[in-house]
Amino acid sequence: MPYVVTQSCCSDASCVVACPVNCIHPAPGEPGFLESEMVYVDPAACVDCGACTTACPVGAIKPHTMLDETELPFIALAESYYAEFPHADRAPLAVVEKTPRVDAGRELRVAIVGAGPAAMCAADELLKSPGVTVDVFDRLATPYGLVRAGVAPDHQRTKQVTDLFAAIEEQPGFGYHLNVEVGTHVSLDDLHRHYHAVIHASGAAHDRPLGIEGEEMAGSESATAVVGWYNGHPDHQDAYVDLSHERVVVIGNGNVALDVARILATEPASLAASDIPALPLAALRGSAVREVVVLGRRGPEHAAFTMPELIGLAARPDLDIVIDNQGLPIVGDSPKLDLLREIAARPRRAGTRRIVLRFNTAPVRILGDGVVGAIEVTGTASGPDGVVPTGPTELVETGLVLRSVGYRAVEIPGLPFDPVTATVPNEGGRVAPGSYVAGWIKRGPRGFIGTNKSCAEETVASLIADANAGLLPEPTGSRAAFADLLRRNRPEAIDLVGWRAIDAAERAAGLTRGSAREKLLDPGEIGAVVAPGASTVRR
Ligand SMILES: Cc1cc2nc3c(=O)[nH]c(=O)nc-3n(C[C@H](O)[C@H](O)[C@H](O)COP(=O)(O)OP(=O)(O)OC[C@H]3O[C@@H](n4cnc5c(N)ncnc54)[C@H](O)[C@@H]3O)c2cc1C
Ligand SMILES: NC(=O)c1ccc[n+]([C@@H]2O[C@H](COP(=O)([O-])OP(=O)(O)OC[C@H]3O[C@@H](n4cnc5c(N)ncnc54)[C@H](OP(=O)(O)O)[C@@H]3O)[C@@H](O)[C@H]2O)c1
Ligand code: SF4
Ligand code: SF4
Repeated sequence: MPYVVTQSCCSDASCVVACPVNCIHPAPGEPGFLESEMVYVDPAACVDCGACTTACPVGAIKPHTMLDETELPFIALAESYYAEFPHADRAPLAVVEKTPRVDAGRELRVAIVGAGPAAMCAADELLKSPGVTVDVFDRLATPYGLVRAGVAPDHQRTKQVTDLFAAIEEQPGFGYHLNVEVGTHVSLDDLHRHYHAVIHASGAAHDRPLGIEGEEMAGSESATAVVGWYNGHPDHQDAYVDLSHERVVVIGNGNVALDVARILATEPASLAASDIPALPLAALRGSAVREVVVLGRRGPEHAAFTMPELIGLAARPDLDIVIDNQGLPIVGDSPKLDLLREIAARPRRAGTRRIVLRFNTAPVRILGDGVVGAIEVTGTASGPDGVVPTGPTELVETGLVLRSVGYRAVEIPGLPFDPVTATVPNEGGRVAPGSYVAGWIKRGPRGFIGTNKSCAEETVASLIADANAGLLPEPTGSRAAFADLLRRNRPEAIDLVGWRAIDAAERAAGLTRGSAREKLLDPGEIGAVVAPGASTVRR
C-alpha cells in the first residue's frame, strides 16, 4: 500500500527526512529540489510505515487506498516521475543539516515584520535557541498572511498548516503585536533601538498592472483584490466584483488565476462549509457567471499553473474544463500536456458551468462605457523576442476582467530595493548585520507555503551567524520600554491572548453557521472580542 503525495507541496522536505527508506524525491541536494512543483513517493520502495503523513504539515500524503476519485491521477504522476528519474540509492537520508544555534548565554531579541508563513517559520527556527525571544508584528488584526487571506476557501486542507503555526505560537519566547503597521504605528528605527535584529517578512501584497488601455475602468480589477474580497482581507472588502454577467475573463494562467476562476465558477453551496465570509458567499449565490475564460499569453507548454492544481480542476464534476488552443494541436511530452490533451478531448455538457483555458492569447485593451463591456484580445506567438501579437484580434464580451499576472512588493523605507525584481537585495537573507529578509520580499512572489520554511531557515542561519560573531548592535531600549512605546503609539495592538480570543470567537461563530470559521471583519467586532467593554480597534 504505497503512500501518495496529493498536492502542490511545499518542498520543505519534512516528509523526506521522516522517511526511513529515502523514497521521497527530489530530496534536499538533488536536482529539482525546491524547483519541483511537488515531491513524489516511489511506489516501488515505500514500506508503508506512515511516518511521512505525520511529518507533513498540510496533510498532503495519503495511503493509496484512502485516495478519493479526484486524487487517483497522483499515482500515475509519481510513477511517471520515477520512470524518468529512478532513485536507486535507498540509504536513509536523515542527514539533516544541523540548524545553527545562538551561543549559550547570549540573549537575543528579534522583531519579525509580518505574520505570514515566512515569519512563522523564521520564529520557529529562532526559538530553537534558548535565550531567544521573538515578537511578530502584523498590520492586520489577525496573523498567517496569505494562508488566511490568499489560499482559496475550497482549499481548506491547505489551511491546516495553521495548526502548525498555532504550535509555534505556543513556544515560550513567542509574542504577537498584531494590528500594528511597521512604518506607521512604530518605525523601523524604533524596532532597531529595541531589538538585536529585525527580519522583514512582509510579503508582496500588491498587484502588477498590465499597462493596457481601459485598465482603470470599473469592472477591471486585480485578482489580488478579488482574492482578498472572498477571503475577508480588510483592504479588499470594497472590491468591485460585478457577477451580473455570464462571462468573466482572467488574464494570466498561474495558480492564482485558477483559484479565482474556480471560486467564481463554483456552485456556492459547496463553499458554505469553508471559511469564506458571509458577504462573498451571498454574492456568489446570486451570481450570473456561467463561464470564466483564463487567458494564457503563451502556449500550453508554458502554462504557469502547476500539475496538482490542474489535476484538481480536471476532476471537478460540476465544471466543464474547455481547452482552447486557437485551433493548434497540443504538442509535447509531459504529464501536464498529456492531461491537457485528455481534457481537450472531453465532450461538453450543456448547461454546465465552464472554465475555458485559452492559450496563445494576450489582452490588447479593455472597452466599455465607463464600465467594462468587452476585452479585445489578440493571437500571439512566442519566440526569442518574447511574446509577440500576431492577430487576429477579437472582442470578448464580459463585465469583469481580472488581471492575475503576478504579485509585487513595494519598497520598504530604510531598506535597499531592486525595482526590477521588487525584492530587497540580500545575501542568504542578510541585508546588513541586524537587518534580514525572508519569504516573498526576499525571493519574489513565487513558490508554495512550505517553500518559506527553507527560505526562513537560511535567513535565520545568517542571523545566528552574525549574533555568534558579535556583529549585532546591542539595542539601547529594553523590552519594557518598547511595551511603553507601543501602548502610547498603538493602544489597539493585539497580543497572542487577543488573537486566541479572535480565533475562538471565529470558530464558535463558524459552528453556528456550519462552516470552518466565520471571520471577524469589522474592527468594532474584533475590538469587542479582544477587550470586551473596551474601545474599538481602529484600522
Ligand atoms: C492568492 C494566493 C493563493 C495561494 N495559495 C497557495 C496554496 O494553496 N498553497 C501554497 O502552498 N501556496 C499558496 N500561495 C503561496 C503562499 O501563500 C506564499 O508562498 C506565502 O504566503 C508567502 O509568505 P510570506 O510570509 O512571504 O508573505 P505573506 O503571506 O503575504 O505574509 C506577509 C504578512 O506581512 C504583513 N505585513 C506587510 N507589511 C507590513 C507592515 N508594514 N507591518 C506589519 N505587517 C506587515 C501582511 O499583512 C502579511 O500578513 C498562494 C499565494 C497567493 C497569492
Ligand atoms: N495551490 C497552490 O499551490 C497555489 C495557489 C496560488 C498561488 N500559488 C503560488 O503563488 C505564486 C504566485 O502565483 P501567480 O499565479 O500570481 O503568479 P505566476 O505563477 O507567476 O503566474 C503569472 C501569470 O501571469 C502571466 N503574465 C505576466 N505578465 C503578463 C502580461 N503582461 N500579459 C499577460 N499575461 C501575463 C504569466 O504568463 P507568462 O508565464 O507568459 O509570463 C503567468 O501566466 C506561484 O508560485 C504560485 O504557484 C500556489
Ligand atoms: S509511508 Fe514510510 S516508507 Fe512510505 S513514503 Fe512515507 S515515510 Fe517513506
Ligand atoms: S507538503 Fe512538505 S512535508 Fe508534505 S508532502 Fe510536500 S514536501 Fe512533504
